Amino acid sequence: MDSSLRRRRKVFSVALPTAVLMLVGGAVAVQSSSPAAAAETTLRAAAARAGLFFGVAASPNRLYPIVGQEFNQLTAENDMKPDRIATSNGGLQNTGGADTLVNHAQSNGMLVRGHTLVWHSQAGALQGASQATLNTFIGNAINRWGNRIAYWDVVNEALEDNNTGRRRTQWPHSMNRDANGDGDFFDAGDTDVIRDSFIRARQVVQAGGLTTKLCINDYDVEGLTVQGGTPNRKSNALYEIVRNYRQYIDCVGFQAHFNDNPNSIITDDLQANIQRFADLGVEVHLSEVDIDDDLSNNDIGAGQAENYRKVVRACLNVAKCTGITVWGISDSESWRSSERGLLFTGGNGNYQKKAAYHAVLDELNRGRNVVTPPPTTVPPTTAPPTTPPPTTAPPTTAPPTTAPPTTVPPTTPPPNPSGCSATVSLNSWPGGFVATVRVTAGSSPINGWSVQLTLPSGATVTNAWNANRSGNSGTVRFSNVSYNGAVSAGQSTEFGFQGTGAATGMTPVCTA
Ligand code: XIL
Repeated sequence: MDSSLRRRRKVFSVALPTAVLMLVGGAVAVQSSSPAAAAETTLRAAAARAGLFFGVAASPNRLYPIVGQEFNQLTAENDMKPDRIATSNGGLQNTGGADTLVNHAQSNGMLVRGHTLVWHSQAGALQGASQATLNTFIGNAINRWGNRIAYWDVVNEALEDNNTGRRRTQWPHSMNRDANGDGDFFDAGDTDVIRDSFIRARQVVQAGGLTTKLCINDYDVEGLTVQGGTPNRKSNALYEIVRNYRQYIDCVGFQAHFNDNPNSIITDDLQANIQRFADLGVEVHLSEVDIDDDLSNNDIGAGQAENYRKVVRACLNVAKCTGITVWGISDSESWRSSERGLLFTGGNGNYQKKAAYHAVLDELNRGRNVVTPPPTTVPPTTAPPTTPPPTTAPPTTAPPTTAPPTTVPPTTPPPNPSGCSATVSLNSWPGGFVATVRVTAGSSPINGWSVQLTLPSGATVTNAWNANRSGNSGTVRFSNVSYNGAVSAGQSTEFGFQGTGAATGMTPVCTA
């Protein structure tokens, strides 16, 4: 999609109600979104108000004041990886850096993500280790910090590159055995390093009475699709893992290292995919965010700040998206410094905010469940002044002296034609789908809409967002919620729903 078309598709909406009830991690919080409320001035405060954490990857030599000022969650960029802290028999060593980070987080009121227990890379002395040794390490690491670590990445990057949907073949995944050869590792008789590592981690957490949550983390899993609309098979494979092992898994990290790779771009279905995982009951985190400042190869829009907005918005609009972590403070100190993907320039404790920083702060301050584009592109909330239809324009033959500007014939609003139209786009996987419905106003503004469509037999809606719903199979009706009923002429808003079964051939009918 070209950027002018994207702009034309911007959505118009009215302000949020002054109090929004939110469900965050099982707890109900009341968010004040009164326009009068002063905006927060740090990322962590704005995120906290919206009910999520905003974190940073950190190292012990970069614990500058900004870390505790701007962020309320910390991930060890390297200091809790096996190559740093594991011995070959699963014991611990060199935990000084990790301890420094955990202490710093604690004294600054920050949550800690432990990163990471089982990973093919930076495996150090564990490279090639057996499941038994991995299990020993998992126990030692979890118990060392206990509840001081809120989230542990138990398994990192289990799946292959290039959107194959397969698991990696290198260690530790070479320990997997697909006993019946059906291509997955979920059956009795199969062995699965992912499952076994989570079972062990779950045992340790339970035995210690810990509240630590157990996550699986990966990249190129963010969208339902990848560039060109191809289904994101890697994401689908991750989804199957979480679905199958849901009893052991509390949280999913989408790394969100967005760049020009066709499988690593920001797609419009990011929010729907976050929602899909959230609907399994897990928390979702954007766990390692950086966004290449030159995403020229795809259709995601111009600037880095706009892309950050879009990504933060996708998380904010899903209640169980409970945290965002950027993978470093400044571009120059990033693992991918050439992509300039972070929120600050500068270095060594002296940092300057980028446009991307201001965009993120602003988006966080707007709170959850907003369908509108950023304020700078929001059309006026009052109906545009009516202009006379061309056929009623004053006759051009009228002498200027007798036709002062005030004599323009009084305007009568043109009749509202059909009111609205709707289109549906579908992302499907075996046994399920997410539908995104775009509601477009006709040549007049609308103030409320409903969309009716008929699902094929066997398909059932399990949940919907940005719309009220009646019915879950057969003919189902959706209507606007408080914040997206008003759509100005020619503009659109979107809602979505998820379901089981196959949903093909649905024809949405819109009524305003
Ligand atoms: C990176 C660190 O940022 C670098 O300093 C290190 O040299 C390599 O690892 N996915 C992950 C992170 O899960 O652990 C990686 O961190 C980035 C990609």
